[in-house]
Amino acid sequence: DLPAKGIEVVGSEAAQKAKIGVYFAVWWALNVVFNIYNKKVLNAFPYPWLTSTLSLACGSLMILVSWAARIAEAPKTDLEFWKALAPVAVAHTIGHVAATVSMSKVAVSFTHIIKSAEPAFSVLVSRFLLGETFPVPVYLSLLPIIGGCALAAVTELNFNMIGFMGAMISNVAFVFRNIFSKRGMKGKSVSGMNYYACLSMLSLLILTPFAIAVEGPKMWAAGWETAISEIGPNFIWWVAAQSIFYHLYNQVSYMSLDEISPLTFSIGNTMKRISVIVSSIIIFHTPVQPVNALGAAIAILGTFLYSQAKQ
Ligand code: 3PG
Repeated sequence: DLPAKGIEVVGSEAAQKAKIGVYFAVWWALNVVFNIYNKKVLNAFPYPWLTSTLSLACGSLMILVSWAARIAEAPKTDLEFWKALAPVAVAHTIGHVAATVSMSKVAVSFTHIIKSAEPAFSVLVSRFLLGETFPVPVYLSLLPIIGGCALAAVTELNFNMIGFMGAMISNVAFVFRNIFSKRGMKGKSVSGMNYYACLSMLSLLILTPFAIAVEGPKMWAAGWETAISEIGPNFIWWVAAQSIFYHLYNQVSYMSLDEISPLTFSIGNTMKRISVIVSSIIIFHTPVQPVNALGAAIAILGTFLYSQAKQ
């Protein structure tokens, strides 16, 4: 009967909301841990192309083991699936390497302040490349996002051009990745978790030759020796932690992308950055000027206005 059905619907909606809430909380927590260990590793071992490759390699290994041990069921894929995944993997690889290069040059907080402008890039790409139009308030909300990021960038004490550009490139790449992935996941039998698993493996194949060309085993061996002599054997655990947490947070984020719209995803992602910015400033004692923090706050407020305008 109707009232009972109504209660059922409300109940399942609440359960769905609770499930997404748990995904978000786990995603953010894993991401904070990843960012801390990633930066600790990069401070001692400034080879972002290798650390990015190791993150993907570790993830791929974790997946293969869980498929072999039947902890997770391997997806049934065909050539069409991998072909459609290729552009997503290219975008994922570029976005990942660019963000890691950025974090090797500047404070974690600065990379994430610039990365909080991702929704603005999403609107610009959708408008100019896909011809989508938005209501005026959406465009207006881009002003505080862009203005806030610009203010934070010009007042950043340790500004570095490669660090800035890396975060900007990552923004563009991840907008494409999110658009392509949501399209690729639509109507497919592959779950979000397995979709990210395949994405990880394909990205690893793409990234490895570039990492060898840009940095290469000689640099890595020398850098590794220095890091071990400075940090001790603990350094290996840091590398393991950044790699494992990278895979886990992305896997959880894709599991939530399965359930939500790209818009909700990008809002969740921006809110995630607040926890990363705050915790990394505390842990790494990053110097922040009030005007710099104001820029970051305006940018993040802009993202909230954006989400309101978009709804
Ligand atoms: C990476 O290494 O891929 C980035 O740190 C991830 O950026 P995200 O916070 O947008 O996932």
